[in-house]
Amino acid sequence: MFTQNLEFKTTDLDTFPFPFRTGNYRYSNDLRKLENVNLVTITPEYELQVRTKRRLLDEQPEVRYQSFPHTMEMQWEFLEMVFSMAVEKYPEHFELVKNGDEWTFKNNILKESDTFTFGDASTLPYEPYNFAGRHFHQDFVLMVNRDDNFYLEVGQVSYAALFSAHWNTGMSFDEIHGPVPFVSKNGDNLVDRIRKFLLGINPGEPWTRINWNLMANRWDVNYETMDVWEPERSLITAENAGKLVRLRVEEQKFYRMSRSNAILFVLNTQFLPLEDLKLRQEWFDLTYSVLSDIPEPMAEYKGIAPYLAQSVAFLRREDEQLKKQQQEEA
Ligand code: HEM
Repeated sequence: MFTQNLEFKTTDLDTFPFPFRTGNYRYSNDLRKLENVNLVTITPEYELQVRTKRRLLDEQPEVRYQSFPHTMEMQWEFLEMVFSMAVEKYPEHFELVKNGDEWTFKNNILKESDTFTFGDASTLPYEPYNFAGRHFHQDFVLMVNRDDNFYLEVGQVSYAALFSAHWNTGMSFDEIHGPVPFVSKNGDNLVDRIRKFLLGINPGEPWTRINWNLMANRWDVNYETMDVWEPERSLITAENAGKLVRLRVEEQKFYRMSRSNAILFVLNTQFLPLEDLKLRQEWFDLTYSVLSDIPEPMAEYKGIAPYLAQSVAFLRREDEQLKKQQQEEA
């Protein structure tokens, strides 16, 4: 069993990672150096998102969390990193008291306090990575570096676009990206280039990029629940698209872990209903332009082909209305 509805959207627009810079979108190596290295962010929706994430993890534990047994040391490295970042950035919300190996982590927003022995997983209610990740709203994927490639060895994923810890664990970077119709503006095949780029990332110098999609009436789709969400996509019309279709944006961050040499892939997923795009005219115009110009293979791959035309029709109508209004006012 799993439950979903449209409980939340981004309300602080200044923190919404709007994805488009120009009016047409094609795949590219769009990685940029990350300026603010600390991955912990407390948004107005923090509590709602964390509680929802935990509920999904509890409802579908195997789908949403997977790890290989040999990853324990890496999991502790992850726990130490995210707890330290939380305390450094938000000392009023998080505390970490270390008494030798006896650690106590306090989350004052959720009013929780846990004492455990660092390095001894039997003192925690979940595996260390699963436990630590449950305090933050992002998804976390650990890609282990072997043979010039990266392999997905730990995943905690609750806001997925055709992706799950269950489906993807064990896959290499190249296998994961096999289904992506990766043709860039100049026709290059990108998988190799991006993988080589990731190999060069150094500890302490993370990188970032933004990925986007549309979601019809939910925040998360994976292969395991396709029978539930697949038919819902055909319910979208030009009339209801403003409310039910959401611009779904992933702010992705890539950290080289200094002890394990793995790449930690962090996804901050945020949503904006199409009707809210009007709050920023520039966002509305860019999104309308990008969605009117999506190549067929990209629409198919992203799973938006069944309701893209209806979404564009909604934006066109809004655009026409606005232009009429402006003409009347002039
Ligand atoms: C190392 C960490 C990474 C992981 C674990 C990862 C994982 C994924 C997954 C699971 C998908 C969906 C694949 C599917 O359809 O089955 C995907 C898609 C994609 N990935 Fe990655 N990725 C990583 C890094 C990157 C980087 C660094 C880039 C680009 C610079 C990139 C670009 C893309 C693009 C463009 C798509 C298609 C997404 C869409 O159109 O919605 N990925 N990735």
